[in-house]
Amino acid sequence: MLLISIAFVLTCSLFTSAEFSVSVPAPSVSAQMGMSIVLPCKVSLSLNDKLFEVRWYKNDAYDSPVLLYKDLEVQENVGASQYKNRVSLVGELEKGNISLKLDNLTLADRGEYVCLVKSFEWYDKASMTLNIIVIGSHPLISLADAVDQVNVTCVSDGWSPKPSLTWRDKGGSELTNSHSRYKRDSEGLVSVMSWVLLSPSGSDWISCSVGLSDQEMRESRVLPLKGFWREAFISALFLSLIVIITLTVLLLLVRQGLLPHCSSRKNAKLAGYGDILAGLMSQSSAPPVSNEEIIRKWKKLKKSKVNLTLDPETLQKPLIVTRDRNGVYRGQLTKEGLGLTFPHVLGKEELSSGQQYWEVTVDKNAKCKRSWRVGVTQKPASEGVIRALCYEERYGIYASTDRHTLIPNEGHCTMLGMLLDFKDHTLSFYNIDKQSHLYTFTMNNTNNIKYFALVSPGIKDQYPVYLNKK
Ligand SMILES: *[C@@H]1O[C@H](CO)[C@@H](O)[C@H](O)[C@H]1NC(C)=O
Ligand SMILES: *[C@@H]1O[C@H](CO)[C@@H](O)[C@H](O)[C@H]1NC(C)=O
Ligand SMILES: *[C@@H]1O[C@H](CO)[C@@H](O)[C@H](O)[C@H]1NC(C)=O
Repeated sequence: MLLISIAFVLTCSLFTSAEFSVSVPAPSVSAQMGMSIVLPCKVSLSLNDKLFEVRWYKNDAYDSPVLLYKDLEVQENVGASQYKNRVSLVGELEKGNISLKLDNLTLADRGEYVCLVKSFEWYDKASMTLNIIVIGSHPLISLADAVDQVNVTCVSDGWSPKPSLTWRDKGGSELTNSHSRYKRDSEGLVSVMSWVLLSPSGSDWISCSVGLSDQEMRESRVLPLKGFWREAFISALFLSLIVIITLTVLLLLVRQGLLPHCSSRKNAKLAGYGDILAGLMSQSSAPPVSNEEIIRKWKKLKKSKVNLTLDPETLQKPLIVTRDRNGVYRGQLTKEGLGLTFPHVLGKEELSSGQQYWEVTVDKNAKCKRSWRVGVTQKPASEGVIRALCYEERYGIYASTDRHTLIPNEGHCTMLGMLLDFKDHTLSFYNIDKQSHLYTFTMNNTNNIKYFALVSPGIKDQYPVYLNKK
């Protein structure tokens, strides 16, 4: 008995004096959204004893750790739920390498990560900051006449961290007389707006580039033309585009030996081109099941439509909601309103389970609406969480997450159906005029997430977009 006690006391004192240290190689690490990252951390001993506990936690959330290693194994079901199946220890523990791997990074993963090692009587910790890199939108350039000069404005949004914006002339020299403004949205993504006054020129283009570093740079170019010449230039460009498109389509049709009757629809040619484009460019997310199956599901569910109403409290400028709270249209354009291509309003009703189906009239009586956007979002709404289809007259229909892939859609679209399926984690869009399937988003995870319908009539015209009533 005495011997055992002595042994115990000895063991204890042995561990009391067994001090160790925890270290990280750098104070911060960065990775792109959606990727994986290893957060490196090292402890100056071998972790082959039950006495040691390794705890990774974020910010001050000690009690809901990112990962907990105890009794020689990673403890399941103790960590914060948002890390479930996304974290692992990847180093050799015997060598004291307690690096943490974090997969499928989201913006919410930003923050300070602490690795803490603890024994009976001693502990040490080290920490590092994880930055999430998000590449923003292509810079959008617009021109406005200002006395005898041209006001060139460049806008780009959705960046993390804060990007830099540079104007350059044709020769590559930086323009220094620009004015830039940065804004951070509720999710922490940064947008930038910059303008510069220039003498009009028909041959010397300028560029606006926005980026985080030389590798993550996006650039747009423009000829700073004044009003009349600008219009003339753009229509010339448009005409040559139409000629090229028509020739391409004809060529392809002739090649395949089928030249169908010309459609009277004014969009037919463009839509055909959209098909081809989409075919060439599309590596977009494949629908989880076949087209037929998606249509069959729709036919079954479209009878149980849900009634949605618009929530004026979520209204963005310069929109106006109709009195019955079903329609929304653009009011007077103000300066603030110009920044948004698709100002929106959200549905009041929370969509959080089951299969939800609703319909939207985007272009009543085919009055040639010039732009719209409909879909769903989480709150607060931002590009990162919006899943929607967008339409712009000069492009066609495209997914909000991928501006560069057009969705084939022959003819006009006056009414769209949307089916949000929490079982399949999908959001499908249907063209009701044609009874066809347009596009399906696959959501990463819809458990415990609340979605709201999102409606935007665009800013190009004042025709309303309606949520259909039962
Ligand atoms: C720890 O393990 C990770 C993953 O295997 C490795 O990338 C890193 O270099 C290791 N660190 C040290 C200090 O050995
Ligand atoms: C992470 O992303 C990959 C590919 O995008 C996906 O297959 C996987 O299921 C995702 N894992 C989690 C835990 O979300
Ligand atoms: C140029 O346009 C921007 C908005 O696009 C505006 O904020 C700025 O005041 C304009 N500058 C002049 C001199 O008109």
